[in-house]
Amino acid sequence: MTSIDYSQKIPNNVDLSSDKRLQRALERWQPDYIDWWRSAGPTDFNEHDVYLRTAVSVDRDGWANFGYVPMPDYRWGIFLTEREADRRVGFGDHEGDAAWQEVPGEYRNWLRRLIVTQADTEPASVEQQRLLGHTAPSLYDMRNLFQVNVEEGRHLWAMVYLLHSFFGRDGREEADELLDRRSGNPDHPRILGTFNEPCADWLSFFCFTMFTDRDGKFQLLALAESGFDPLARSCRFMLTEEAHHMFVGQTGVARVIQRTCELMDENPGKDVRELGGIPLDLIQRYINFWASSSVDLFGAEVSSNASNFFRSGLKGRAWEERYDDHQALENAYEFERFQDGAFSTEQVPLRNAMNEVLRDEYIKDNEKGVEYWNRVCEKAGVGFRFRLPHRRFNRSIGEYGEAHFDVEGKPLAEGVWEREMGRWLPTEADREFVQSLMQRVTEPGRMAGWIAPPAKGIDGKPADFEYVLL
Ligand SMILES: [Fe+2]
Ligand SMILES: [Fe+2]
Repeated sequence: MTSIDYSQKIPNNVDLSSDKRLQRALERWQPDYIDWWRSAGPTDFNEHDVYLRTAVSVDRDGWANFGYVPMPDYRWGIFLTEREADRRVGFGDHEGDAAWQEVPGEYRNWLRRLIVTQADTEPASVEQQRLLGHTAPSLYDMRNLFQVNVEEGRHLWAMVYLLHSFFGRDGREEADELLDRRSGNPDHPRILGTFNEPCADWLSFFCFTMFTDRDGKFQLLALAESGFDPLARSCRFMLTEEAHHMFVGQTGVARVIQRTCELMDENPGKDVRELGGIPLDLIQRYINFWASSSVDLFGAEVSSNASNFFRSGLKGRAWEERYDDHQALENAYEFERFQDGAFSTEQVPLRNAMNEVLRDEYIKDNEKGVEYWNRVCEKAGVGFRFRLPHRRFNRSIGEYGEAHFDVEGKPLAEGVWEREMGRWLPTEADREFVQSLMQRVTEPGRMAGWIAPPAKGIDGKPADFEYVLL
């Protein structure tokens, strides 16, 4: 059943009303969720109409319906892609078995952990972005921010549905915990590092949606392969929503670059700061920060957890069908060890290197985005070229987390990092400068001075459409 039943208190396409117990449990969680949204979600804009898209079906085409809605009235619900007939586990020790419709008992804890870790990122990002509405550079951008926010909220719903329906009492407790942790709270933080970083300005927001939401894309791609069918189907639908988040990041950074290039072109020899633009090298430092922090989210290079998740059939590789061998038992992954200041090559059993395999795909995808930004510079006749920092740069997790490396991945001598990091990562002065430019622009069609207008509007609407009714 693909059509979504909006007549229910909780919109869904999983025939929720046939399971009264589950329905009641979720209906009890719903007001807590709304409380969380009001206290930890976007500040102050909850009474305004926002031009948002809402899922109407899970079909590939035409699933979205656009209309004005105040955010707390957004119809958060439970949408899974359609069940595939005779779906099989696609990889690992259970390859070829019928996909599981119930939790396989022996893997219950691993599965719960995977779901909770994914779930935790969703409300975290909403919390990180909660103040940004106040400094939106245009109504178009404000609307995109809120669209991302409501969809992250929906992703939380998707995961909480799995916890409630398949994990009994501990699932319900985990669902409650998801509303209790807070991004950046020292006593009760979110689970993963990047999701506790402040996202206090719009350049950070665009970098976050570019790099951190893209981590989300790859985690979802790997979970969309899961032999646990309800998880796979949840993640497949989440991926369709995720694409817009990365579009916001990719084009957002591009528009900042474009504006700076324009200012440079119109005022040769002048400091773009004085003209209200963001210098390209400062943008590069933001990229270095968010890209490296997000690279850490894939975990350690060599990981027995990753191996367990793969062998059990719970978490695959992105686009598993592109591989010939779904067992991953024969091959090794060549990996660079860094010990006592020296590199050496090591062959790791492929299953233990699954984090690294996923990270490789992620980095490749990021590189395409950076090329896109460089084309903006090229078109403007500006010589500056952006680059992704090396995967060893600024890591806190895994093989490279103990030492320091520059953006090219070269190990640094004692003391160099502390002295030079301001060349690579945003400084206090950078952040203050970016913050000084953050002022809300609310006239339809107008943009703040540090960002170019979008190439086109949302849902075929013009750029000067009133995307938020303030
Ligand atoms: Fe998400
Ligand atoms: Fe996202």
